[in-house]
Amino acid sequence: MAEWRRQGLKFAVLPTMGALHEGHLRLVSAALHRADRVIVTLFVNPKQFNSQADLAAYPRTEHEDAAKLAPLGAHILYAPDGAEMYPQGFATTVSVSGVSEGLCGAYRPGHFDGVATVVTKLFLQTGADLAFFGEKDFQQLHVVRRLARDLDIPIEIVACPTVREEDGLAMSSRNTRLSPSQRQAAPKLAAILLDAVARIAGGSPVDATIDEARSAMAAAGYARIEYLELRAEEDLAPMHRFDRPARLLVAAWLGETRLIDNVGIPAGQGVIRPAAA
Ligand code: PAF
Repeated sequence: MAEWRRQGLKFAVLPTMGALHEGHLRLVSAALHRADRVIVTLFVNPKQFNSQADLAAYPRTEHEDAAKLAPLGAHILYAPDGAEMYPQGFATTVSVSGVSEGLCGAYRPGHFDGVATVVTKLFLQTGADLAFFGEKDFQQLHVVRRLARDLDIPIEIVACPTVREEDGLAMSSRNTRLSPSQRQAAPKLAAILLDAVARIAGGSPVDATIDEARSAMAAAGYARIEYLELRAEEDLAPMHRFDRPARLLVAAWLGETRLIDNVGIPAGQGVIRPAAA
């Protein structure tokens, strides 16, 4: 990397936990488009799992991941082990307040501290100019932007749109855990989100629309809904009226698999109702 820097090359980092799918591969392509050199990191970060069972069940497919990356032309696959990343005596946590609270932060205590700590390390270890993240983990994107800004890390955070299966299901390493019948039910989540977003953009009241979407999710087999909330695109502030660019974000369980998704509503779309007097 020092040599790349000496040569004046621009380089990008793409942090992953492996189990790569098309969504990751699109991030690699986007990174190759913007940077001269691309580093893909692969580290299943124990610090961001708040359940040992979830950590143990996380798919580990390092050889397949390397094979998927090879034809794309990424320059380095960096796959440290736990002791390299967190050597004996490691005692530092990067904790971002504000944007990491609520949503996933409320249901996965310590998760964003783990993400912020490892991402900070990866930024500093690689010294990359650019870092690529998917919008599917929208709250994570905000956490990462905040930490880079607050810690004066000179890196541009580039957000890439969520990549979906043909039936609308957001791609995720966790989708492999769905049974065939759950896999059939899974895309209803995106369909319900899109319908709710269209209605909110068209002027339907936010809270009532969300209540209806929750009922539709329950009917589709999502027995446990952690959250379904409208938040401001800019700073994730809770919204009960659609009066600025927004995101509808969801986390819910299908059997033993936790799925997250989100859809944006740009400003100027549909009717913006004035506040009641
Ligand atoms: O999004 C992920 O896969 C992880 O949270 C990340 C950013 C690689 C940090 O471990």
